[in-house]
Amino acid sequence: MNKFKILISTILFLMVITGCAPVNEVNIYTSRHYDADDILYAEFTKKTGIKVNIISGSGGALMERLKSEGSNSPGDVFFTVDAGNLANFQKGGYLQSIKSQTIKNLVPKELRGENDEWVAVAKRARVIFYNPESVSDEEIKNISYEDLANSNWKNRVVIRSSSNMYNQSLVASLISNLGEANTEIWAKEFVSNFARTPQGNDRSQLMAVANGLADIAVANTYYIGIMLSGKGGEEQKIAASKLKIAFPNQENRGAHVNISGGGILKHSPNRENAEKFLEFLLSEEAQKHIVNNTFEYPVLDSIDPHPLIAEFGTFNMDKTSVSDFGKYNPSAVKLMDRAGWK
Ligand SMILES: [Fe+2]
Repeated sequence: MNKFKILISTILFLMVITGCAPVNEVNIYTSRHYDADDILYAEFTKKTGIKVNIISGSGGALMERLKSEGSNSPGDVFFTVDAGNLANFQKGGYLQSIKSQTIKNLVPKELRGENDEWVAVAKRARVIFYNPESVSDEEIKNISYEDLANSNWKNRVVIRSSSNMYNQSLVASLISNLGEANTEIWAKEFVSNFARTPQGNDRSQLMAVANGLADIAVANTYYIGIMLSGKGGEEQKIAASKLKIAFPNQENRGAHVNISGGGILKHSPNRENAEKFLEFLLSEEAQKHIVNNTFEYPVLDSIDPHPLIAEFGTFNMDKTSVSDFGKYNPSAVKLMDRAGWK
């Protein structure tokens, strides 16, 4: 053995006995709260030998944590829902560009953040749910988000509050497509059609329509899958079976699509593992797992949505860049406030 080899062996030996051997791991900061994600993490470890450590919390709490950790942060990946949340982390300077060509090849440009600092791993559409007992085919046919401002929907619409990111991203997409002035006119009329002051989550809106408190609701597609599956209990399952989906804007830009996605944290100490993790989420195996457990739509065309979601049919998805949801978020928030959207 030459001197160099002896030196390396000695260093490695010392690292092992002092407990500072490099650990093959990836540290994931997440505000997702799906039990099914744990199975995904375990599968990643099984495949790659990379240990997954989860640090979970709300977006705000994770941001605070990253701020205090600074350049010593052990965080490698940020994994969350809604492009607006990902864009907020980007604006805060907590992310870095993803380099993996595999990821760029798999995720279309409109489903990535600016400078490829974050990418989609699943899609969700924010659509119109209606009760066919109180809404005629004629009324709902070819409906658009813009139509929800029409007076025939007076006191018939339910949607959650303007503090919700899903709604902020929807309004940001309207600003991107219609301009701020037109979106504001729309928002004022839309708010005047509310059947009640916004309250509850997306599922509460679906329950309200099923129970006859309103005729249409705007909510994310995966909630109907969760409810129909029985995961939310019998009452929700029965309620969901009464509802139908109208995919908006099928004659023009398509239904508003948002994402679940991830990015690589700025000071990631395990950068390569972070890219491997995001690549794994975009593998057929992981995509299948995601759609079958969260009822979202896959990013990969080769994977089918969960049968309970596929049942609602295919539709045109809006190709507005999800990075616009972050770009127009501040304008959207102010605009909704001016429109009186509680
Ligand atoms: Fe949700």
